[in-house]
Amino acid sequence: MCGIIGYIGRDDALDVVVEGLRHLEYRGYDSAGVAFPTDGGIEVRRCKGKIKDLEAIVYADKPETNVAIGHTRWATHGVPSEYNAHPHSSNDIVLVHNGIIENYLDLKRELIDYGYSFTSETDTEVLCHLIDRHSREEVKFEEAVIRALRAVKGAYAIVALSVREPQKMIGVRKDSPLVLGIGEGEFFLASDVPAFHTRTRRVVFLEDDDIVVLSPDGYRIMDLGGNEVERKTELIPPMAAGADKGGYRHYMLKEIHEQPRALSDTLRGRIFPERGEVNMSEFSLDEDVLRGIGRIFIGACGTSWHAALAGKYMIEQIAGAPVEVDLASEFRYRGPLIGEGDLFIAITQSGETADTLAAQREAKRRGAMTLSICNALGATSAREADAVFYTHSGPEIGVASTKAFTAQLFSLYLFALMVARVRGKLGAQDAAAMIAELMRVPEKIERIISNEDAVVAVAKELFKARDFLYLGRGILHPIALEGALKLKEISYIHAEGYPAGEMKHGPIALIDEDVPVVFLVQAGLLKEKVLSNISEVKARGGKAVVVAGEGLLGEVGQADYTIGIPETNPYLEAVLMAVPLQLLAYHIGVLRGCDVDQPRNLAKSVTVE
Ligand code: AGP
Repeated sequence: MCGIIGYIGRDDALDVVVEGLRHLEYRGYDSAGVAFPTDGGIEVRRCKGKIKDLEAIVYADKPETNVAIGHTRWATHGVPSEYNAHPHSSNDIVLVHNGIIENYLDLKRELIDYGYSFTSETDTEVLCHLIDRHSREEVKFEEAVIRALRAVKGAYAIVALSVREPQKMIGVRKDSPLVLGIGEGEFFLASDVPAFHTRTRRVVFLEDDDIVVLSPDGYRIMDLGGNEVERKTELIPPMAAGADKGGYRHYMLKEIHEQPRALSDTLRGRIFPERGEVNMSEFSLDEDVLRGIGRIFIGACGTSWHAALAGKYMIEQIAGAPVEVDLASEFRYRGPLIGEGDLFIAITQSGETADTLAAQREAKRRGAMTLSICNALGATSAREADAVFYTHSGPEIGVASTKAFTAQLFSLYLFALMVARVRGKLGAQDAAAMIAELMRVPEKIERIISNEDAVVAVAKELFKARDFLYLGRGILHPIALEGALKLKEISYIHAEGYPAGEMKHGPIALIDEDVPVVFLVQAGLLKEKVLSNISEVKARGGKAVVVAGEGLLGEVGQADYTIGIPETNPYLEAVLMAVPLQLLAYHIGVLRGCDVDQPRNLAKSVTVE
C-alpha cells in the first residue's frame, strides 16, 4: 500500500519528508514524489523508481521550505509511471492519497464535463479537482475539503496543501490509516509512525472522518461536520529495530496479519451486498460474454495453483461451470484442447511468472479469451490479458505468498458468484447471503490471529520434526497442499499435502511418532471419513493436528492438537483454514532460525522457465 508523510514546522521540510519516505519503503512502492509551496505556487517533484531516484531530483536544487508532503506509491489504478506518481495537483491544490476511491470513474466524468482535464490514470486525481472546485466557493481550505469528500465513496488517507493558504496542511482519513505526530514546534501527518518516529513519539491516532488542520503554531481536529473533536495524545515506545516492517519482526508475519485489511480492499467497490450482485465493471467481461463462455481453464504455479484448485470447487459448485486446472508449466506442452469461446484464467500474484505468462499466451494463441487475476498493477499478465481483476492486496514482500493467496480465493469466489448470477444458477437472496458471509471473513480472520498463541504452542511442540503430512478432502485438499508448501518453503522441513482419502493408498506407510499429520476437517459428507483417517494415524502412533471449525472440535478428541476457526460456509472455510497454516509455518520457521522472508534458493517472482 502507499506511504504518506507531511511536515509543517520550523525545520527543513524536504529533508524531513524524504527521510520519512525512506522509513516507509517497507510498504513496497514503485514511484515516489514530494510537493511544497513556492512563491505564489506549489512545486511537485516525482518519479517512477526508488527514493534514491527521487532524492536526485529533489536535491539537484533543493529549495528551503518549512512545509512539504511526500508519497510512495504502490499502484492500484494507473500503471507505475511519473505521471501517475503522487503528489497530484489541480490549480491551487496538491495532495497525496492512500486508499481506493470506489466511485472515481463517475466523479471523473462529472469533473471532465465541468471542464477539468486529467493528466493521470489514477483515482486520486479526482480528489484534487473536487477540492479545487469547492475552494472556488470562497471557503476556507478545510471547508473545501469537507465539501469535496461528501461526494467521495471509498477509502482514503489524504494530506493536502493549498497555494491560497501555504502555511496550512490538512489531513483526513476514512478506512485508511493516518497518524498525527506532535513535535517541538513541528507537526507530522503519516500513514504509519515509522515515518517520523526519529523526531517525535507523541502521536494521535486519527479516527475515520477526522479532519486535522495544521499550521506551524498548532493543530485542531474536527469531524466532517466541522465540529471540533478531542483525540488522545499517546506516547509510543521507542521503535525497535526493523520499525520499517511496521513493527513486525518479519514481512511475512506483517502480511499474514494484514489479511483482514487486504481482503477488505479486495472487496472494496466490487460488491452490491443488498442486491446480491458483484460489480462486473472491473472484470470488463460483460454478461453476454460470461453467459456464453464454453469451458473455463485456470493456469498458475505454486501457491497460485493451489488457489486455482480451490477455485475449481467454487466455480463448478456455485456456478455449475466446468473448470480444468493446469500447472502453468505443463499446460502448453500437453496440447490443450482450448479455443474460441473458452476462457483461460491466469492466477498470478506478481503477474510476471514465466510459466504462467507462457500458458496465458498459449491459450490466447489458441483463440481463448484470457482473464488475469493479478496483484501487481500493470504487470505483464495483466497487460496482455483481455480482462483483469486486481486482488488489491498491497505489495507482498515476503517470498512466501500469504495475503495474496487469500485474496486470490476471494477473487475466485466473487467470480463464481458473478457467473452463477449471470447464468441464473443463484438467486439474488442466496447470493446476498453468500456475499454477506464473504464480508464477515476479515473479522473472522482477526479472531484467528487473536488466537495466534494456540498456533505458537503447536509450533513449539513440532518444530523439530523432519517430515509432515497435510491431509484434506474436497476444497480443503488444495489448502492442505498450500499448508505443506508454506512449511517446506520457509522451514525446509519436508512436507507433503495429500488428499486424505489417498492416505491409505501409500502415505500411511510414513506414519510414526516422528511424522506429525495436519488434518483439515470440515462438516459434511466427508467429515466422518477424515475422522477415520485420524484414528488410523493415532493407531499407528502418529501425532494428529486438527484444524476445524470451532463447532467440530468436540468431535476430534483423539487429536493431539486442535486449532479452531470461526464457522463459515464450506468455500470460505478454505480461506479461513489457510491462516492458521500460514502462522504454523511461520512460527516453525522462526523456531528453526530460518530466514522466513528470504528463504534459501527462492525468488519472489520466478521470471524464468
Ligand atoms: C508461494 O509461497 C511461492 N512463493 C510460489 O509458489 C509462488 O506462488 C509461485 O511462484 C507463483 O507466483 P505468482 O503468483 O507470482 O505467479
